[in-house]
Amino acid sequence: MVLTDTMSDDHWRLTYNGYDPAKEGQREALFTLGNGYFASRGAAEESTANHIHYPGTYLAGGYNRLNSDIGGKVIEHEDLVNWPNWLLLKWKHEDGDWMELETSNIIEYSQSLDLRSGIIERQIHTADKKGRETRIISRRLVHMRYPHLGAIQWHFKPQNWSGNITVHSALDGTVRNSGVDKYRKLEGKHLRKHQTGQFKENGIYLKVETSQSETRMCQAAGTAILPGDSFSSIKKETIEAEEYIAQEFTFPVKENREVIIEKIIALSTSKDHAISDTVSEAQKAISRAMSFEELSKEQNEAWQEIWSRCDTEINCGTSHEQMLLRLHIFHLFQTLSPNSIDLDVGVPSRGWTGEAYWGHVLWDEVFIFPLMNLSLPELTRSLLMYRYRRLHEARHNALANGYKGAMYPWQSGSNGREETFGFHYNVLTGNWIRNDFQIQHHVNSAICYNVWQYFQVTGDYEFLSFYGAEIMLEIATFWASKATWSEHKRKYEINHIIGPDEYHTRYPGSDKPGINNNAYTNIMAIWVLKHARRAIEVLDERSRLQLTIRLRITKEELYRWDDISQNMFIPFSCGGKIITQFEGYDDLKELDWNYYKQQYGEILRLGGIMEKEGVDINRFKAAKQADVLMLFYLFSSTELVQLFETAGYKFDPKDIPLNIEYYEKRTSHGSTLSKVVNSWVMARCHRDKSWHNFNTALVSDFEDIQGGTTPEGIHLGAMAGTVDLIQRCYTGLEMREGALWFNPQLPDDLTEIEYPLYYRGHWIRFHLTQNQLKLTCYTGWSDESIDVYVKEHRYQLKKGEEKIFQYDKKMVKAEK
Ligand code: BGC
Repeated sequence: MVLTDTMSDDHWRLTYNGYDPAKEGQREALFTLGNGYFASRGAAEESTANHIHYPGTYLAGGYNRLNSDIGGKVIEHEDLVNWPNWLLLKWKHEDGDWMELETSNIIEYSQSLDLRSGIIERQIHTADKKGRETRIISRRLVHMRYPHLGAIQWHFKPQNWSGNITVHSALDGTVRNSGVDKYRKLEGKHLRKHQTGQFKENGIYLKVETSQSETRMCQAAGTAILPGDSFSSIKKETIEAEEYIAQEFTFPVKENREVIIEKIIALSTSKDHAISDTVSEAQKAISRAMSFEELSKEQNEAWQEIWSRCDTEINCGTSHEQMLLRLHIFHLFQTLSPNSIDLDVGVPSRGWTGEAYWGHVLWDEVFIFPLMNLSLPELTRSLLMYRYRRLHEARHNALANGYKGAMYPWQSGSNGREETFGFHYNVLTGNWIRNDFQIQHHVNSAICYNVWQYFQVTGDYEFLSFYGAEIMLEIATFWASKATWSEHKRKYEINHIIGPDEYHTRYPGSDKPGINNNAYTNIMAIWVLKHARRAIEVLDERSRLQLTIRLRITKEELYRWDDISQNMFIPFSCGGKIITQFEGYDDLKELDWNYYKQQYGEILRLGGIMEKEGVDINRFKAAKQADVLMLFYLFSSTELVQLFETAGYKFDPKDIPLNIEYYEKRTSHGSTLSKVVNSWVMARCHRDKSWHNFNTALVSDFEDIQGGTTPEGIHLGAMAGTVDLIQRCYTGLEMREGALWFNPQLPDDLTEIEYPLYYRGHWIRFHLTQNQLKLTCYTGWSDESIDVYVKEHRYQLKKGEEKIFQYDKKMVKAEK
């Protein structure tokens, strides 16, 4: 790992020195501040959207639909709305132009994100054409304890001049959605009915409404120039335009004398709980708001509460990995925080940090929930409720497509209908390509898997009996109706679907979307059918009866589920050693990977490259991301062997490395999720390669390894996945059969891991080195002891107890 000179080695702080317009978009995404309710990109306060800057503000789950013309066809799309820009704060000399980084002489510039407190700071030292030097220290927060508040503070100091300045503090509703190049051809004007006004002495507000979903938002702002009493001569002016309101303050400043400028904003929407109307709520919040200093103190405390649940410490030689790991945890909990509990929001694949994937919810939560289950399971429950509330829509989706049960959409937004856009824009060619991703039905199995994992960690029977089991049963019913009997194979099949690898969307030469018998999809369907049955078994008799009657699940239907899982077709090749990605995969051509690597260097975006070359990638054994390998990611070898056995196949876990090697060679890793999976599956057989993959996944956004996707939003799945690799993979942590299982195996470079984890009413501090494991059951509400298996040896742990185990590759010895 190379420490770049832009990096501070403080492992709680991400710092960049110098201003780099080419990197600004990426930094804006990485410096996004959020609180699980709303988020704003880390754009410079003085900027507006252009080819360098994009100051987006997003409301968790704030969507709106628009129609766009795609080649003469009107298509509706649902977007994560970019709301008015409250960040806008700029200044000028009375006789000069507004200060902009692009036109100023930048003497010194740095920006840093304090992960401990969620505060960003910019230090700007500029000079204008007349040589007047000014220093500004800008600090900003989006409040974690008061989710409706955001705040900016400027320490403004003229270095070598005195004179009059004008400060402009605005709420800008002229914004539109234009944060993603590929979607620029789509309509992006979501806001209408702008209403502006003033209140109290220094208050302004802007109210808007989305054009279709009719969500109203009011932003109110109060700006103060401090110390107030020294400015008897502040000239104040309010500027009101159609979609914009601002206040301008003109006042004298003196050489070397610091002035403080504070802008506090409040944001209220018609989706909020416990409100009267958005305007009065936002104004009230401003009237009651504290000073920036007081707000930052409470911000710090609120983040400490979060960190106490999830901070994950590692020792691997440098502090760089530690900082990135914390950056990833930070992004997870500012996207989805305790403030999100009870909001009707799902897990957006790119956080609320940009507009890629239209802010939709895909299957990425399968990479995110494991981490959340161990630190804030209440939040997982709330996020699973996003799915439960859309179960009815999923039922309709199944029915409309000729199936039973519930078929969740591949891309989900406001109400759970299928939001997958029928076209995909290739920026390399400028072409719209047909997009059939809505048949990535494997998302359903991921949802089912997530419900069960949550139940395993929490033992939350209420959730299972009221909501979770119903989701699981309806998804099982869907798979049972999707599976068809092949007389020829004497097996069940699942056809016309797309697996996780998005490069294979149909057979070469065929116009019909979908491939058949994707091994991952089929195995997951077996898992779903088995576990939906288990979910009913663990329920009390009344719930079981009521649920099965309500869902019309008869004994015959259950027998059919068993029949399907016991007779599911799984394609194999190489004499049963290699799990074939899908039926017919073996007939595809090998890709000349060397050619593409030599020609293009970086081939993460192989799909786009081949489309540009006019070559159909469907013809080749080339995957975008882990597909078969997902099986080794989600299941232990024991579980996997059992799943194969259920379907009547013998799979030897000794062949796992063979499969890893086979698919690793044929994957471009065009999704950041892929490296997480590869790191995971290699953890036991190639520890060095696993560590290497982990490090690549760790810098996915920090280095924008896909060359341009990070500015459009960070990759939340990959971020959470890296933390999960530390927490569960290298420790061999599993939650199954009502117990915690540890089977640690650290990569050579990783010498220590420490983090708190939650399990069934206990908080356990987990400390691991290359040969010692320490478990401290330090707090919790449960008086029951828990079963802990360390390398298959059973122990028990109670509240207040600490146990130390010495271990090596084979054996384990308990010390206390
Ligand atoms: C991946 C999907 C993923 C999506 C959002 C795509 O590149 O292929 O598996 O759900 O990104 O993260």
